[in-house]
Amino acid sequence: MRIRRTALAVVSAGLAFALAACGQNAAPSTGGSTGGSTAPAAGGVKVGVILPETDSSARWEGFDKPMLDKAMRAQGLDPDIQNAQGDEQKFSTLADGMISSGVKVLVIASISSDGGAAVAAKAKAQGIPVIDYDRLNLGGTSDYYVSFDNVKVGALQGQGLVQGVGDKAGAQIIQIEGAPTDNNATLFYNGQMTVLQPKYDSGAYKLVRNQPIDKWDNQVGGTTFEQILTANGGKVDGVVAANDGLAGAIITVLTKNGLNGKVPVTGQDATADGLQAILRGDQYMTVFKPIQEEADATAKLAAALAKGDTAAANAVATQNTDDPKGNRQVKSVLLTPQLITKDNVKVVTDAGYVKASEICVAATQAACTQLGIK
Ligand code: BGC
Repeated sequence: MRIRRTALAVVSAGLAFALAACGQNAAPSTGGSTGGSTAPAAGGVKVGVILPETDSSARWEGFDKPMLDKAMRAQGLDPDIQNAQGDEQKFSTLADGMISSGVKVLVIASISSDGGAAVAAKAKAQGIPVIDYDRLNLGGTSDYYVSFDNVKVGALQGQGLVQGVGDKAGAQIIQIEGAPTDNNATLFYNGQMTVLQPKYDSGAYKLVRNQPIDKWDNQVGGTTFEQILTANGGKVDGVVAANDGLAGAIITVLTKNGLNGKVPVTGQDATADGLQAILRGDQYMTVFKPIQEEADATAKLAAALAKGDTAAANAVATQNTDDPKGNRQVKSVLLTPQLITKDNVKVVTDAGYVKASEICVAATQAACTQLGIK
């Protein structure tokens, strides 16, 4: 567990930020099957990529960065991939730098829709096409969007929670959600509620509290969960954690209270930490989103757009996503997520996404052996 343990009764905003700076949730040691940077593609056109955070999920630096780098170089592009580290000002400054350095396409996974839309407008004014990567900027002007079916991701989390909790009458559920400025967090929640709302309505389950977490900050997620748990007299029967990073922080709190392994916790991203927690029995499920597919589609789109070949770009982005704020349809690639529980963790290692050696450690070796993960 890489989460720092703190005995906090009250979270002050300042302390929360100090904790966020401690570098929890470090990226996995490798980015799945892809390595780090290789030499720039000879004569490749420049493409700028801005990722949103490091602390919100191990995915951005551990998977997206190396996979986008490799996929773009394979398309003959020369990518410049930066991370805004959860700082809106930095996000905007990075974009300005990329625009003035002459990138032909800009790919953005924004911290907030507003920040992303502002950057997209600036790029558009310079004639640079923009791809919204993973997170759609509501009310924005980006030409394309590449992501997963995020309502489906949430539905899988809801389904996983129900599988884990079962028909325990009046089961008390706490939902720890993603950032309110990330449209994905809304879509995950909407998907979860397609499964959970009927349970709450019928009284089968009881919602203790639903709490979004700014910037998906894992540490704040853990301390917020702890406060909710304490206020509820230490009672909880199931936890919706919107991703593996939040799940890890919540499991730390459950462990402190002797509840880990007894209370199903959801997740997302199929990170090495999340998969280990599943194998230990502390986390019930995660959602596997093969980021290689997301990176490949983005690279293909970017290559077409860099050539000004709209027809080729449209042949890649054959789906549409509704932007209710901008009142428009955005041409999209929406990939399929998969529900992972202990029984099928092997799917993730077989796909080469995470290596067996990253998840089969002392505490999980018996489970790995039993499940044929090697
Ligand atoms: C992504 C998730 C990620 C979360 C926090 C979401 O927009 O879709 O995969 O866990 O942000 O970074």
